[in-house]
Amino acid sequence: MSTATVSFLDGNFAPVTEEVTTTDLPVTGTLPPELTGRLVRIGPNPRGPEDPAAYHWFTGTGMVHGLRLDGGRAGWYRNRWVNGDDVVNTHIIEVAGQTLALVEAGARPVALTDELETVGPCDFGGTLDGSFTAHTHRDPATGDRHGVTYHWSWDHIRHVIVGADGRVRREDHIPVPDAPMVHDCAITERWVVLLDLPVTFSMEMAGAGRRLPYGWNPDHAPRVGLAPLDGPPEDVRWFDAPSCFVFHPLNAYDDGDRVVLDVVRHPKMFASVLNGPYEGLPWLERWTLDLARGTLATDVLDDRGQEFPRLDERLTGRPYRYGYGAAFGEGVAHGPALRHDLVAGTTEVHDFGPGRVTLEPVFVPRTPTAAEDDGWLLSFVYDGNRDRSEVVVLDAGDFTGPPVATVELPVRVPFGFHGSWIPD
Ligand SMILES: [Fe+2]
Repeated sequence: MSTATVSFLDGNFAPVTEEVTTTDLPVTGTLPPELTGRLVRIGPNPRGPEDPAAYHWFTGTGMVHGLRLDGGRAGWYRNRWVNGDDVVNTHIIEVAGQTLALVEAGARPVALTDELETVGPCDFGGTLDGSFTAHTHRDPATGDRHGVTYHWSWDHIRHVIVGADGRVRREDHIPVPDAPMVHDCAITERWVVLLDLPVTFSMEMAGAGRRLPYGWNPDHAPRVGLAPLDGPPEDVRWFDAPSCFVFHPLNAYDDGDRVVLDVVRHPKMFASVLNGPYEGLPWLERWTLDLARGTLATDVLDDRGQEFPRLDERLTGRPYRYGYGAAFGEGVAHGPALRHDLVAGTTEVHDFGPGRVTLEPVFVPRTPTAAEDDGWLLSFVYDGNRDRSEVVVLDAGDFTGPPVATVELPVRVPFGFHGSWIPD
């Protein structure tokens, strides 16, 4: 295998060196008073010098960044390392009133205070048997959170259901060969959607000292599984899938005898570059699984480079119209936000300007019963012209219009992974 190294330590990939607390931040425009809570995100931020050839972007010590909004004020910004023995750096969500930092493939979640200080590992009150995941999907009908977990030593993956009370209430083992990397899943009203794609654990990479010993494995047959949402796991239906890799579905839903699954599709992963995702631009694609015929059909929805797909999570697992994401080209000097209208088949682009790059955007509905496009899109935006970041609030229904509000941060927020709006 011929391999190349890409540095994930330069520019805004570089870690910041200090924990900062700032209060009463300057705001341009008007922060909607309904936005009272915390916008939090997380990414890798190694504490000390790293060898760019050895460093894998997914393995840096986690750092959380939070912005507190309160009745039209930007109350505070703070960033904190996630402390502990394990690296936990991939997502931050709230479960049963507790702010949790999450990672896949082994480590437990880490509980944080509302002000982002580390409390310690969380195993959901002793109910989690081993590895968890960064990506869970909350069923709006039940409040259950569904996730798929994996570990290099397992001959199976696990569908884990965390109840609204914050305790694991069910855990099903689903046999899979080769110990695949399963970063995320999707749910519908009937199914949990399993991604079994050709990135698998590599003993050779582990032996060579790779910190993330997972690589492209052309001998691993790509497939998508549908497991009954509430078990039993023996009833999994498998569908042949294209040879590719998917970190993130946008959403999925039932459509009669079919399941619609929207994904960000990468051509490959960890095939020529092993220390971070860098195998060509990923695009948005619809996979339609036909349960009667046992087939999977693909349709490109938007072919521009993009990742970090999000939706109005009140529609997780349900038919939906709008999806959001972060666009990027080769390089990271320019990164607009995208708003896909999946019914009209169109995409709107909010361009933050030259040198300005949005990180993962988060949709917040205006009220609990607001329409799907009635709310705001919040994101941390890195301004390479000033080497600083801002939090920008867009009106989701006036996506290409000027921002509703922009909060000036005192520092930059490095490129990282995922986050959440946690309302009070
Ligand atoms: Fe992710």
